Amino acid sequence: MAKKIPHRLYLTEEQMPTQWYNLRADMKEKPEPMLNPATGKPVEPQDLYPVFCEKLAHQELDDTTRFIDIPEEILEMYKNYRPSPLCRAYSLEKALGTPARIYFKFEGNNTSGSHKLNSAIAQAYYAKEQGLNGLTTETGAGQWGTALSEACCYFGMPLTVYMVKASYEQKPFRKSIMETFGASVISSPSHTTEAGRKILDANPGTLGSLGCAISEAVEKAVTTGGYKYVLGSVLNQVLLHQSVIGLESEKAMEILGEYPDIVIGCAGGGSNLGGLIAPFIRDKITGKADPRLVAVEPVSCPSLTRGRFVYDYCDTGKITPMAKMYTLGCTFAPSPIHAGGLRYHGMSPALSKLYHDGYMEAVAVGQTKVFEAATFFAKYEGILPAPESAHAIRAAIDEALKCKESGEAKTILFGLTGTGYFDMTAYNSFQEGSMSDYIPTDEELEKGFAELPTIPGIQE
Ligand SMILES: Cc1ncc(COP(=O)(O)O)c(C=O)c1O
Repeated sequence: MAKKIPHRLYLTEEQMPTQWYNLRADMKEKPEPMLNPATGKPVEPQDLYPVFCEKLAHQELDDTTRFIDIPEEILEMYKNYRPSPLCRAYSLEKALGTPARIYFKFEGNNTSGSHKLNSAIAQAYYAKEQGLNGLTTETGAGQWGTALSEACCYFGMPLTVYMVKASYEQKPFRKSIMETFGASVISSPSHTTEAGRKILDANPGTLGSLGCAISEAVEKAVTTGGYKYVLGSVLNQVLLHQSVIGLESEKAMEILGEYPDIVIGCAGGGSNLGGLIAPFIRDKITGKADPRLVAVEPVSCPSLTRGRFVYDYCDTGKITPMAKMYTLGCTFAPSPIHAGGLRYHGMSPALSKLYHDGYMEAVAVGQTKVFEAATFFAKYEGILPAPESAHAIRAAIDEALKCKESGEAKTILFGLTGTGYFDMTAYNSFQEGSMSDYIPTDEELEKGFAELPTIPGIQE
């Protein structure tokens, strides 16, 4: 008799990956190079040194090294909460009456509550190794800020976090955790930076955005001695660190004798998705297998499904390098949905390229449907998902229901990136029936596209 697949599969510490996987190394066509906004020329590692730690600047631009060793100190901290379990959603399958086999990789089992810790630890470690005085960052939903606070505390690195005002007001306890770990937290936009003051002058009532908080954090880093800036998504280095999610999933599925037909992840800046799908993209590129890879984004911030594949700034203040990516324009201000971590105007350049070249699909979903799925999942699987993660749950449920219709027993793997304990305002608003779904009009999107940069000879 075939052995029953366990509800939770935990790899052993010895089975954990000891190297990150750099998916760009296997891409037949590489993502376009990042451009220096001052010269319009491809960025060199030295151009990034004023903003980023040196090792991270090299990881950012390295699109040839396939595997990169994870330093021992990072592995040690990973072992505080990794390997993370690969879960079989038996109760959800039963409740849906689907023949599909649904698996999810659960990344919420750490104090910060999400996958963000995988890159936070790496970035805090490299900052410490370089002997820096401190770091700055931004946070949208608060998950990244919390993760980085935890990691900086571990490595003894001071940290200033610019938190998007919408979340700062909605989730005061996120601030309390960050402060517990010793970080200093500022509501963004703020009067502490030139970028913040400009944005406030132009729009005093703004609830902020990730792009705007990035501008403030970068400015603070470059104007404070011995400080560097770190980012929790979008960048190649972050996708690299998040590859532990995919590598562990691949290994666990191999042990179970499984392989996903569909891999699904929510997409804000693309880091969890890029990490989860990394080994499966490799299989697709090399022709070893052909799983469907699906990005799920909010209808209110549809960078992949309605954005343009062009060069744009990574921040609202237009001070970062320009990257070729799917974008809604760096001045696009998404409506304040509850999945704060998905309110970013652009998308990882590597994922953008893979999507553009047909390796990945994308769907956009409204938040009411997302919370319906989140509530259903919580009831049957006993985990309260973060609103961001619930986007992936929505798409996984939809795929499982399609299997119910067709009678196909597909294997679905999705990323459950985090828990939603700080998102109860959102759950309340869903329960009270006061949640709305905002879909930007074409005219609204045009305003963002009108601000896209022109680059002589490249983007006229
Ligand atoms: C729980 C959770 N999931 C997903 C995301 C989206 O980020 P990314 O696309 O970088 O994975 C966030 C961002 O804050 C998050 O907090």
